Amino acid sequence: MIFENDYRVLAADNGYEALKILKDESPEVILLDVKMPRMNGIETLRKVKEITSVSKVIMITATKTVKNAVEAMKLGAEDYVTKPFDVDEIRLIVKKAMEAIDLMQEVKNLRSEVERSYNFDNIVGRTDGMKKIFQTIQQIADKRSTVAVYGESGTGKELIARAIHFNSKRAHKPFVAVNIAAIPETLIENELFGHEKGAYTDARERMQGKFELANGGTLFLDEIGELPMNTQVKLLRVLQEREFTRLGSAVSEKLDVRFIVATNRDLEEAMKQKQFREDLYYRINVVPLRIPPLRERKNDIHPLVNHVLNKICADEEGGLKHISKEALELLMEYRWPGNVRELENVIERCVAFSNGDGIEVDDLPVKFRSLQMDTASLDRDFVENGRSLSETIEEFEKKMIVNALKRTRGNKTKAAETLRITRKMLRYKVDKYGLYL
Ligand SMILES: Nc1ncnc2c1ncn2[C@@H]1O[C@H](COP(=O)(O)OP(=O)(O)OP(=O)(O)O)[C@@H](O)[C@H]1O
Ligand SMILES: [Mg+2]
Repeated sequence: MIFENDYRVLAADNGYEALKILKDESPEVILLDVKMPRMNGIETLRKVKEITSVSKVIMITATKTVKNAVEAMKLGAEDYVTKPFDVDEIRLIVKKAMEAIDLMQEVKNLRSEVERSYNFDNIVGRTDGMKKIFQTIQQIADKRSTVAVYGESGTGKELIARAIHFNSKRAHKPFVAVNIAAIPETLIENELFGHEKGAYTDARERMQGKFELANGGTLFLDEIGELPMNTQVKLLRVLQEREFTRLGSAVSEKLDVRFIVATNRDLEEAMKQKQFREDLYYRINVVPLRIPPLRERKNDIHPLVNHVLNKICADEEGGLKHISKEALELLMEYRWPGNVRELENVIERCVAFSNGDGIEVDDLPVKFRSLQMDTASLDRDFVENGRSLSETIEEFEKKMIVNALKRTRGNKTKAAETLRITRKMLRYKVDKYGLYL
């Protein structure tokens, strides 16, 4: 009667009836008497907990014996109210239980959101090179083997590292990322190992290092190639012994951490130059993952562009932007030294500056619009067909003009502009070479 106006209320005369209701319903809160005929409240509670872990149970009794209260709590009851109860009190208790449920649901939603953003759906890759990487990740995610991710800047090394973590049994444990290159050399050991109070002058409090913070989870050591030689020895020991010692401490502590390292440096070259220890290299190179540069997986470019466009358009309102065939062709020809990160920047810039609903050639940064010379084929022509220099230059000029016209869809004014010649000059050359598209 108290709750009828605020909640949907289901009533049961005894424990059996309550359990019957639970077959079809999953109430958020259950108010449960202790003294009941046939099956008492404690027994009912035990059975309720076997059926559902969602419902919060509040016990109600006339005689509050400590033994019953303790047992009910142990069995997972949320709270305990004695009769005769105060109406406001029980209202408050139920309200609190409902709030706790809402919070739990929110945490659950957020958690699955985090997981979703790092499962493979969010990593674009339809080329064989990327598919092979996904396959390897699935094979090794649940193992503790150290993974070494190699790839040029912006190829997605950190993204892959997170995907490994969030696809492993450690997903609910911490993922700690450390960028070695960003920490001054003198502070690296402090950051990794932590220190005891008084380990050195400035060590006023005990500090947990990254090893400790990642315990149970995954530690991502980015730019491992920048690790100073003397710290390399210490890291090697941690990897071998699965133990670490805080600075200023005499005792070592057990460590259960999955290590993922990444670098855009050529570690084999660094080894030759005695900048990277060979023994450490073999320790970390257990599962090597090489992410190919974007220019070696051109078929990922279009899906990546769409992925970025979707992401931007989900953040900001406005219609979904698309990219024209001609603009895409230019993106496919480009070398992408900054890989996916560069592509993200280019697309974001295009969307910001474009006023139509799609990306056109003119929206692209100048570096795309300047022509890519196909000198290799011209040179071959030059040698094989015994062309003269002036013939080769003419041939090249023809190509430039055709490309410019294609790109501007035959718009001579625009084509002349990109070639930085007058429209008249363009007309003359088109006539001279017979370049009618
Ligand atoms: N395959 C991919 N699919 C979707 N997004 C990607 C992909 N690869 C990289 N990205 C995006 O590109 C950006 C750069 O990726 P990330 O930071 O993981 O690269 P990195 O290799 O660690 O780069 P750096 O060497 O510069 O640290 C990120 O925003 C990431 O989300
Ligand atoms: Mg990175």
